[in-house]
This record gives sequence, structure tokens and C-alpha cells, in this order.
Amino acid sequence: MIVSPSLLSADFGNLNKDLEMINASEADWLHIDVMDGVFVPNISFGFPVLKYVQKACRKPLDVHLMIVEPQKFINEVKDCGAEIMNVHYEACTHLNRVVQQIKAAGMKAGVTLNPATPVCMLRDILPDLDLVLLMSVNPGFGGQKFISGTLRKVQELRRLIEETGSHAVIEVDGGVNAETGRQLKEAGADALVAGNYVFKAESPMKAISTLKNL
Ligand code: DX5
Ligand code: ZN
Repeated sequence: MIVSPSLLSADFGNLNKDLEMINASEADWLHIDVMDGVFVPNISFGFPVLKYVQKACRKPLDVHLMIVEPQKFINEVKDCGAEIMNVHYEACTHLNRVVQQIKAAGMKAGVTLNPATPVCMLRDILPDLDLVLLMSVNPGFGGQKFISGTLRKVQELRRLIEETGSHAVIEVDGGVNAETGRQLKEAGADALVAGNYVFKAESPMKAISTLKNL
């Protein structure tokens, strides 16, 4: 299982400590949630913080933009060292163009779906995608309850990926813990984002290891 701990639940009063933990852990990526207070009802952090994270973190950055008009910031995201740039399906009128621009900038292209958006909306773009990020909570906050209907969406997306010959990785974000993580693995997920489950654990390193070895 690919594990991508979410920085949103880290201790912003001592980011170094948490980033050192991530560096020393079995985490594959670091998930970064950028929010604008428009696309989602919350504001997180922006590029100056990402620049710092880029310097201190040795894991590839999996950037999740919960913002309107994400195409305006492709160069900024690239400059922050992102390996994967995730944009919301619901935020892009010209999704094909945005995906091509992300790839032309040298990043992997991920498209994120809100819980109410069906996976069939991605049928025509799937062969162009490196990753699909399925939200298993309504985006905007950490620590929410997992929406169980996501399991069926993972299965459906897995079938669609096979049908379209896509190589996209299936990542799931929101309410992931050892129990929901195991269910997601069974359903066909390749990658898990986890905020609270990792950073609020007594041993975050162990929590990462548990998800890694589900
Ligand atoms: C929610 C964010 C998530 C969040 C997950 O809008 O996209 O990445 O950090 O947090 P948990 O794992 O605590 O649900
Ligand atoms: Zn996220």
C-alpha cells in the first residue's frame, strides 16, 4: 500500500519534528492540502509553507489543491517541488487542458472527486491520468468520518481503469484508519491518505507502518 500522511494534521508549531518523523518513516509520499476558503469552507496554508516543506521533506510531495481555478497555479506548484498535482474535477471546466498542462510542467496529473461525483465522469480522461484521488469525506477538514459508499466507488473505478487501459493509481482521502484502510485495500485502492490517524497516534511511525503493511 502506498501511504501518504496528510500534513494538515501535523503540529504547525513544530513542523520540523513532524517532517523528520515523516523522513524516517515508511511513508511513500507526503500529502499537502491547500484550501482557499472558496472551493471548500476552510483555509489551510499556501506556497510559502510548501517552499519550506520542500526543503525539509525527503518524500515526494502529493499536493491536493482544494481551490477554484487551480490551473492558475501550475507553475507555483511545480516550483514547490510537487511530484503529483491533484486538481478537483468540480473545479475545472476544461479538465483535459489542465491535465495536459500539469504533465507538460513535468508533474504527475491527479484528478480528485468529491463524494457526490460519480467515477464515470472520468471515463474519457482516465487514460491521461496518473492518479485519481477519491474523497471519502467532504473536503475541507481533517478528522471526519469515512463515507462507506467510497468502497463501491473504488471497485467501480478499478473496473473503469481496466476497461480504459489507464495506468492511474487509486488514492483515497478522508477518515482513513486501520479498519477503513483494510476495507479500501480489499476494494482495490493503491494509496491511502491519512491525517488524524497518523499525527494524533501515540506513535505516528507505527500508524504509518500499520497502513503500509495492511
Ligand atoms: C480533507 C483533506 C484530507 C485530510 C484528511 O479535506 O483533503 O487530506 O487531511 O484528514 P483525515 O485523515 O484526518 O480524515
Ligand atoms: Zn487531501
